[in-house]
Amino acid sequence: MKIVRTIQALREERGKMEGSVGFVPTMGALHAGHLSLIRRAREENDHVVVSVFVNPTQFLPGEDLEKYPRREEADRLICEKAGVDLLFMPDASAIYHEDEVTLKAPAYLGYILEGHRRPGHFDGVVQVVMKLFGLVQPDFAYFGKKDAQQLRILQKMAEDFFLPVTIVPMETVREEDGLALSSRNVYLSPEERRRALSISKALKRASKMVMAGERSAEAIEAEMREVMRGIDVEYVAIVDRDFRPQERVELKKSIILVAARVGATRLIDNIWL
Ligand code: PAF
Repeated sequence: MKIVRTIQALREERGKMEGSVGFVPTMGALHAGHLSLIRRAREENDHVVVSVFVNPTQFLPGEDLEKYPRREEADRLICEKAGVDLLFMPDASAIYHEDEVTLKAPAYLGYILEGHRRPGHFDGVVQVVMKLFGLVQPDFAYFGKKDAQQLRILQKMAEDFFLPVTIVPMETVREEDGLALSSRNVYLSPEERRRALSISKALKRASKMVMAGERSAEAIEAEMREVMRGIDVEYVAIVDRDFRPQERVELKKSIILVAARVGATRLIDNIWL
């Protein structure tokens, strides 16, 4: 596995690659969720590129940019073991320029739910992913369904800008007890972790209700809020695949999303029905 930090070195290594390139963009602190993306990329491509870059432009002032977990050595080992060919670990100064052209997330999709709570967050995500796509020129790029809104926005970005990349959505990976894997889980104390479990429990309850025939979004949301009464729920939303709110849940069309704070940690999770 080659590790590169500069644009020039990345370009040189990319230039040597023939055949398909699978790309997994990450912010590091890699866990089993990232590993599932890397493994799928490995299965499906001749070459696998992973980037580790804690992108400053997607953090709002006061968010956890400074304390976001950084685990370079562990990430390197995970990538090496998983058969990654090229690991790109740039500094912000390599990626961003002065007074540069900026992209904006879609006016609706980029500013509801996560985008409403974190205005400008998705602008930073599209900015950096567009740059990374420009550099890596992947045929396939792998993203987790846990960040459902990010995934939809990036699919739209690829469509809207006619990018020659296929976005591959991947299932959320969970701990045995249901907690969705996230780099931010390391912030949780044991007691907070126990309380955080109510998020996946609420989603499971919702799924059971739907399987039993319940279709009312209001009834499902009320039940979910009851399950999560020990934590600070920011939103529960039942939307279609384009994130339009739904009053009635539809099988194979709805996504149920939750954002909540447990102590100082903000967590998101969802299920795709
Ligand atoms: O999902 C993430 O880790 C980040 O938002 C991404 C896509 C790597 C862009 O910085």
